[in-house]
Amino acid sequence: MTRYLVTAALPYANGPIHIGHLAGCYLPADIFVRFMRLKKYDVCFICGSDEHGVPITIKAEELKKTPQEVVDHYHKVMKDSFESFGIVFDNFSGTSRKIHHKNAQQFFLKLYKNGYLSKRKEKQYYCETCKRFLPDRYVEGICPHCGAEGARGDQCDACGKPIDDLSLIEPKCKICHSTPIVKETEHFYLDLDKFQDRLKDYIDSRTWWKDNVKEFSLGWIKEGLKPRAITRDLDWGVKVPIDGFEQKVLYVWFDAPIGYISSTMEYFKEKGKEEEWERWWKDPDTKIVHFLGKDNIVFHSVIWPSILMGVDEGYNLPYDIPADEYLNIEGKKLSTSKNWAIWLDDYLKKFQPDILRYVLSSILPENKDTDFSWTEFQNRNNGELADIYGNFINRTVQFILKYNEGKIKIKNDLKKDDQEFLQNIYDKVEKIGNYIQEYQIRKATYEFMDIARESNKYFASKEPWVLAKKDKNYLDTVLYVCMKAVVVLSCVGDPFIPFTSKKVRDFLKLNSFTWDDIKFLQPPEDISDKKLDILFTKIDDKTIEEEKNKLGNLPKTLIGSNKNLDEKKAESVTINDFKKIQLVVARVIQAEKVEKSDKLLKLKIDLKDEQREIVAGVALFYKPEDLVGKKIIVVKNLEPATIRGIKSYGMLLAASDKDKKRVRILFADDQTEEGDTVG
Ligand code: MF3
Ligand code: ZN
Repeated sequence: MTRYLVTAALPYANGPIHIGHLAGCYLPADIFVRFMRLKKYDVCFICGSDEHGVPITIKAEELKKTPQEVVDHYHKVMKDSFESFGIVFDNFSGTSRKIHHKNAQQFFLKLYKNGYLSKRKEKQYYCETCKRFLPDRYVEGICPHCGAEGARGDQCDACGKPIDDLSLIEPKCKICHSTPIVKETEHFYLDLDKFQDRLKDYIDSRTWWKDNVKEFSLGWIKEGLKPRAITRDLDWGVKVPIDGFEQKVLYVWFDAPIGYISSTMEYFKEKGKEEEWERWWKDPDTKIVHFLGKDNIVFHSVIWPSILMGVDEGYNLPYDIPADEYLNIEGKKLSTSKNWAIWLDDYLKKFQPDILRYVLSSILPENKDTDFSWTEFQNRNNGELADIYGNFINRTVQFILKYNEGKIKIKNDLKKDDQEFLQNIYDKVEKIGNYIQEYQIRKATYEFMDIARESNKYFASKEPWVLAKKDKNYLDTVLYVCMKAVVVLSCVGDPFIPFTSKKVRDFLKLNSFTWDDIKFLQPPEDISDKKLDILFTKIDDKTIEEEKNKLGNLPKTLIGSNKNLDEKKAESVTINDFKKIQLVVARVIQAEKVEKSDKLLKLKIDLKDEQREIVAGVALFYKPEDLVGKKIIVVKNLEPATIRGIKSYGMLLAASDKDKKRVRILFADDQTEEGDTVG
């Protein structure tokens, strides 16, 4: 029996997971795995966090943390997000773990021994203040192509052009802003040219690959493969295991895919079957399928197979690489730095995971970039999940409880059109399976909803409320047929909306099942003791507006998952320090919104001896009229500040949660008077 080793690209541990990640890679992988498991294939689903590389060290420097602290934090954040969305890997490891460092070094040494690595000297920026070589992203300067400032060592974001080695004008060290010198350094290269012919044969033999993956990879090979540097002058990463190279590490893209193997090793080791991992990588009966987004293609279709061939230890080459394109949001390219993104932890505060899973499955960027919009999210929830899927199931169950005392008779005397209806559904189950195996998940999702659509039509056309009055026997048949459809939906929905499907199966007392069983499963004969909640409720316009407004708005530091890391240690102060701050009671006499700002209110306050104006960031939580007449506490001796062009002479006290999503002003009670001191 064929075994499937399925991987999802290891996400960088430098930020939380957003819907682009989900759509490009993790959701299709999970749908595929869930289906293959139901088909009773032997599947191992592997992932982990990608914990090396410059984006991580830059993030660490920004946050004044060690790289290890950063990756440990995000490893957990990402793991939690995946679990909350029902994406459960057999193992979610991380590349900073010992088992991986050892494994990656062994790969390196094997390639060296087999003659596939060479050493080369090259010139690179070196910062004498920081005493280190500067990788591309650590250098900023003026773009030699377009003259824009803030271009990075490897690319200019303004004109999008790559920047060749050392051609940046007025280069500066990103960390200390001094001018770097150019210094010679030595690196190891992977001789990709030595794999040129074998790679071409390999890719040609993979006739089933998606066109985008195949064309892109062959294009690369056609240009002629050149040796590629696989070491870097950094101190965070897997150390190069060669004397004299102790100060260097393996390039992140060299070690990361090896992480798939390390994660598999770790998984079986923890299960007490240390040798087992090898079957999953070397046995000819295992198919390796790598799910990833399009920017990862060549690393998996060209470089990774070269590494696997080069170590010459009997590894299988990737069987398939179903890469997706990009997901845009509201017509614009997703950007984490501009916060044009939807973060999973943020999403979960408002909505259940299945809605997003379903909506994304319906619009996956399988063949071209696609667009996510909140309006479509609302429409698909309201018009499909609630009105079609949920409505059919809830309506059938309600009807049986109300008109048939919760009883369902297992019937064998179906009429022709009842049989045809069920056969049509079973055909769709078959079709859905085939689509998923071909990674056509959008089409599979459509057919899934179509089962519910057809079922709704069947229910309406049979008018069971009429049958209840005149044909009890046929009513039993119709209700039985409807419940068969409910059973099918609860099973076939598992890859798409696993939480809801499970809820319905629990209601039906259905435990385990296989894909091929689906049409033989029977509904329970009595549901009178059970209750099924409404599965999907409608989402109103206001909620959708709020989500739209968040896009591109929330400053990065407010993103939920940064919070623990960003928390500053509180310094202790003496009572005399505290006494320097004059706190007094003041009464609000006027309040109005600050123009062109949704967050700010301008308040006129009375401190007894004087009146002042202050600006406060509370408009999202209080209307002006809520505040007039109220007594608040203000810092009286704060240096005036200018906020949006308005002078603010003081600051009011308010309590808030870490994310500033809930802000409450501290009011002084009726017994206090303007001008009273607080302390
Ligand atoms: N961390 C990479 C990214 O997010 C993906 C690494 S995939 C692996 O783009 F193969 F290297 F693991
Ligand atoms: Zn420097």
